[in-house]
Amino acid sequence: MTYKIAVLPGDGIGREVIAEAVKVLKALEGAPSEEQGAGRDNRPAASTPLAFEFTECLVGGAALDAVGVPLPEETLKVCLNSHAVLFGAVGGPQWNSVSYELRPEKALLDLREKLGLYANLRPTKVYPPLIDASPLKREVVEGVDILVVRELTGGIYFGNPRGIERVGTEERGLNTLIYTSSEIRRIAKLAFELARKRRGILTSVDKANVLETMQLWRKIVTEMAQDYPDVTVNHLYVDNCAMQLIRSPKQFDVIVTENMFGDILSDEAAMLTGSIGMLPSASLGGKIGLYEPIHGSAPDIAGKNKANPIAAIASAAMMLRYSFNLEDKAALIEKAILTTLEKGYRTEDIFSGQGAGSEKQGTGAELRRVGTQEMGDLIAESL
Ligand code: IPM
Ligand code: MG
Repeated sequence: MTYKIAVLPGDGIGREVIAEAVKVLKALEGAPSEEQGAGRDNRPAASTPLAFEFTECLVGGAALDAVGVPLPEETLKVCLNSHAVLFGAVGGPQWNSVSYELRPEKALLDLREKLGLYANLRPTKVYPPLIDASPLKREVVEGVDILVVRELTGGIYFGNPRGIERVGTEERGLNTLIYTSSEIRRIAKLAFELARKRRGILTSVDKANVLETMQLWRKIVTEMAQDYPDVTVNHLYVDNCAMQLIRSPKQFDVIVTENMFGDILSDEAAMLTGSIGMLPSASLGGKIGLYEPIHGSAPDIAGKNKANPIAAIASAAMMLRYSFNLEDKAALIEKAILTTLEKGYRTEDIFSGQGAGSEKQGTGAELRRVGTQEMGDLIAESL
């Protein structure tokens, strides 16, 4: 089976980390592939060596500079003709003054909308070798395993009316927070089902004490809870949730929330793992899934071989799991990441967190600082 992957590295460190994710996927090529539980055409597993066809496309600031738009038609076409999309990061200071429609970030928002990707899964799992890389105390973060389910194509990101308009002598900026009941239902349904397969605790995060949209959100999630008696549902206001994530993150299993709340809370949750460079994501809901690290383009370290490629590599693992149904290969990549960390290899973001002096960790392995490419090589070798 050849899986067609649209590769959209984008800007800044997006280019560097996606190169490592592709490297790791290539290391898997040729292995016998059998989709879990598929038994397709009754062919034996060994007769279907795994193969990927990568098509690299322009997106974000790189596309704007090259062809004048952040999401070229050609890029969208390639995405629509692929089995999945591997996305790096977009944006940078050189494009901060371009109009909203041409901003590099608009490419990502348009892709999410055009591909119908209403659900964004952001797993936040603390890797045992990195417990001391978190700015929080070991006893707070040890064993944290949270899945943030972020609504991705609605809410204040997409609501109309929007814009900046002139009102008399003033300018007025306007955005609108809208959710329909069906939009709330479809994301909540997915979150309930995911919670059911995990520890059975769902936290719905809203701001129902202030916003009517969020009152509707809470009402619908409450109604739906009756159909999932095996799932314990909690409702938290977003400000409280932000606080609880730092105070006692282990109380959380699955968090489901509005688009912008999810954007903010997932960056916060990332720090429980030690670095935002660790967190992958999967955007689902349409025919083609999109996989991207949750971090941005980090222009300050771009091109310096300093970025942590683990979030991108773990995103590739999520692609194998959710788009290709290759659970065993996804688990293999995740194991290779863990093994590499256990051996003491660290990119700068997860190295410095451990205190420059104490270059030892629980397993007794010497900590070794490596660059983006070396980290990719080590994980690929470990496969
Ligand atoms: C993310 C990013 C994006 C978002 C930006 C780049 C548009 O922060 O994926 O979390 O806000 O959704
Ligand atoms: Mg974000």
